[in-house]
Amino acid sequence: MTGSQRGSMDKIRIVGGNRLNGTIPISGAKNAALPLMIASLLTDEVLTLENLPRLNDVVTLSRILGNHGVDFSIDGRRAGETGMTGQTAHLRAREIVDTTAPYEFVRQMRASFWVIGPLLARMGEAKVSLPGGCAIGTRPVDFFIQGLKALGADIDIDGGYVHARALNGLKGGHVRFPHVSVGATHVVLMAASLAAGDTVIENAAREPEIGDLADCLGKMGAKISGAGTGTLHVTGVPRLSGARHRILPDRIETGTYAMAVAMAGGDVTLEGARPELLQAALDVLRGAGVEVAETNRGIRIARNGAGLKPVDVETAPFPGFPTDLQAQLMALMCRADGTSTITETIFENRFMHVQELARLGARIQLDGQQATIDGVERLTGAEVMATDLRASVSLVIAGLAAEGETVINRVYHLDRGFERLEEKLSRCGGDVTRLVG
Ligand code: EPZ
Repeated sequence: MTGSQRGSMDKIRIVGGNRLNGTIPISGAKNAALPLMIASLLTDEVLTLENLPRLNDVVTLSRILGNHGVDFSIDGRRAGETGMTGQTAHLRAREIVDTTAPYEFVRQMRASFWVIGPLLARMGEAKVSLPGGCAIGTRPVDFFIQGLKALGADIDIDGGYVHARALNGLKGGHVRFPHVSVGATHVVLMAASLAAGDTVIENAAREPEIGDLADCLGKMGAKISGAGTGTLHVTGVPRLSGARHRILPDRIETGTYAMAVAMAGGDVTLEGARPELLQAALDVLRGAGVEVAETNRGIRIARNGAGLKPVDVETAPFPGFPTDLQAQLMALMCRADGTSTITETIFENRFMHVQELARLGARIQLDGQQATIDGVERLTGAEVMATDLRASVSLVIAGLAAEGETVINRVYHLDRGFERLEEKLSRCGGDVTRLVG
């Protein structure tokens, strides 16, 4: 990535029917990279992030952070690098030049709302636009506000902005989230790291990306314990330093390619993947009759000849089955020998892929938050489009097994979160090409 973003009018064309065989390298996790980049606002020293994925969301966030005063640079490619290896980036917020995050930024990427935590903790003030709704649900910010208030912030909401102030600095406090929220946990964790005194965060998210942020904050000098459990303890420090941190592998990318191989058939090693990051999803695949083996290179996924068994799955916060793999599993179950059910418990409107999968011949019925999927003998290629990242990639998975040609429009959703998807799949024999728009 050189700072440019891939074309927003591009399409992906898939001719279904090929098996996948070989190796797919797993990139650094998008949903760890974003909060880690935002953590650079907490210190005037350099934060170096290794294994940064080449994604449009990373480029967008680097620009947004630039507006607050973060200098962002990426090391050039070294001899022997394949272009599939993650990048090393350096972020430095020597001075915060602006504590306002305007609507035009937050609207582009919801996670940029999270700058509210570090800006408030370091500068005593932040004014951040409300993100508004998005394709997968209403996604309010009440838990963030509750958490920051517990650390002593005064908060007003006016004119579409959340204005948070703690002119004498944040103070440690007790936060108990009513529901698990990944974003609110990231934000309160970052803010508490620079608050005076002790903070306890109960009902904290246990997602591995929280652990990755806590690890990096620890290297920066924060005092955090309990990461990976539902209760985090933070003892605030007056300042944080720079650090060097390697971003963990992307468990959602891993699960997505695992489902792609399960769909197409074949035998692929997901290189660098860590099974403990997605045990629930791997168990579901095993239940569907897919071979899953943990190797010293990563995870090996195989399906040779055997049909797919239907499954009944509910999404849940980690360590449960992730909502970010719900659409992909649904695509896979379209080809199962029987009827599956998938219940979405995290977001109220995350079924936009259902209509598009139907265009490929899928038989799916929606009843509130539950989808019932009757497996079909054949899917057939068609032109489709998707409204969010994970929905788009579910159409790629379906396209791999559909007869004929599937063309996916609005590829910019895919480019937000999947690095070189068409290259990774075509190197394993998938007939997947990008049509440059
Ligand atoms: C993170 O979003 C991820 N994004 C999402 O991945 C993921 O789907 C989600 O966690 C759940 O795992 C990033 O990490 C950048 P939440 P986040 O706060 O933090 C409700 C992808 O495709 N809620 O855990 O925004 C909320 O509406 C993306 O990569 C409130 O009600 O999710 C939802 O129903 C999409 N009030 C639930 O909590 C709040 O103040 C969980 O959301 C905050 C959240």
